[in-house]
Amino acid sequence: MTSILILNGPNLNLLGTRQPQVYGTTTLADIETMCRVRAKALSVDLAFDQTNSEGALIDTIHAARGAHDGIILNAGAYTHTSIALMDALTSVELPVIELHLSNIHARETFRHQSYISKVAVGVICGFGAQGYELALDAMVGHLERAA
Ligand code: DQA
Repeated sequence: MTSILILNGPNLNLLGTRQPQVYGTTTLADIETMCRVRAKALSVDLAFDQTNSEGALIDTIHAARGAHDGIILNAGAYTHTSIALMDALTSVELPVIELHLSNIHARETFRHQSYISKVAVGVICGFGAQGYELALDAMVGHLERAA
């Protein structure tokens, strides 16, 4: 069965209480539940993870090779800074969808730069928690077309 990894970076464990005017009131646990329902409907396996550490994100990306068919990544602020994350994604040669709850292009200039975009199949941003479901749909469609 197709397996998709949804990986969340720093501060996303605080969703629900973190700047709700920007990120909404849905918690990460709520998002995981939504994603599990969507994955079941799409008949795919789902792994869902969050860490605040850049090194742990890289380790999880490395471990995804051979274990998952695609990665949906909300790298939080590391999106804008981490060449190491970009290199890890390039190294494992899995399709990546970059995801953000907020529309990073409508925010501060420093959020317009993304190292993840350079190696991603596509980007979903600005749709809040619903973006996770959209990303799952998009990844399944991408994997079907690539098969
Ligand atoms: C974010 C956008 C980033 O700029 C920010 O640093 C985050 C969350 C989003 O989901 O909108 O932590 O990735």
